Amino acid sequence: MDQTIVTNLIEGILIVTISRPDKLNALNNRVFDELNQILDDAEFNHEIKSVIIIGSGMKAFVAGADISEFIGLSAAEGKALAKKGQDTFFRIENSRKPFIACVNGFALGGGCELAMSCHIRIASENAKFGQPEINLGLIPGYGGTQRLTNLIGKGRAMEMIMTGNMIDAVTALQFGLVNNVVSQEELLPTAINLLQTINSKSSNAIAACIQAINAATTEDGFTIEGESFGNCFGTEDMKEGVNAFLEKRKAFFLGK
Ligand code: COA
Repeated sequence: MDQTIVTNLIEGILIVTISRPDKLNALNNRVFDELNQILDDAEFNHEIKSVIIIGSGMKAFVAGADISEFIGLSAAEGKALAKKGQDTFFRIENSRKPFIACVNGFALGGGCELAMSCHIRIASENAKFGQPEINLGLIPGYGGTQRLTNLIGKGRAMEMIMTGNMIDAVTALQFGLVNNVVSQEELLPTAINLLQTINSKSSNAIAACIQAINAATTEDGFTIEGESFGNCFGTEDMKEGVNAFLEKRKAFFLGK
């Protein structure tokens, strides 16, 4: 069976392309299995400093969970499906390494949820975002009700999820759902450029940023921020960063 994901490692940046172009890159069971294998590798492979997720082709990032796999599922099987999606997207959100979603077209349902689990989203001008599950008599099940609310606010999330209407890239920018909107051609170069900056920092401090910022939406966010801040003081990178500043030279971080 053909791979559903293609990967490419360029200067420490792993480019993960969801590749089911004839199904607008919809997330079936196999995509989830391959994505989890890639997440295993990204976690332990020191050559991978950060990750980009993009869809194959020019039309879709990911047009949702594969609806053909919904047929005949019981309530218990539906819950298991949600758990698999949620667990996978938690792994992305809580990764020590930064993930950028390059949203190069439709990001619907599970596609929007996948993009929202990444730490940063950049959209191409043709991108469209939506949670159309309501049109199937469903609600988002891979974290969409939570992450969309956190990113764009309760009223806007309510409207998007209850109508199923899509928003375009400019509206997504205005809502704070994406950081930037660029042309299709500029999408990957913009993300790579951003990650080159991030990859030049201390990997320990970057992991601490992710952990602390993620905790902003939990009650103990301030506690986790304080702990993560304190933990940085035990690293070689922090000593190097402080010394480099005081010695008026560029810091050289080793990720220790
Ligand atoms: N699951 C399974 N197959 C999907 C899919 C999904 N989420 N989204 C698109 N596809 C398939 C279509 O069935 C079609 O397959 P086919 O050629 O074998 O018939 C192919 O991808 C192309 O999609 P098509 O609908 O013909 O393209 P379009 O340009 O007319 O419309 C969309 C694009 C994105 C508006 C439309 O495909 C759509 O609404 N998809 C479903 C979105 C959705 O509800 N996602 C949430 C799922 S919970």
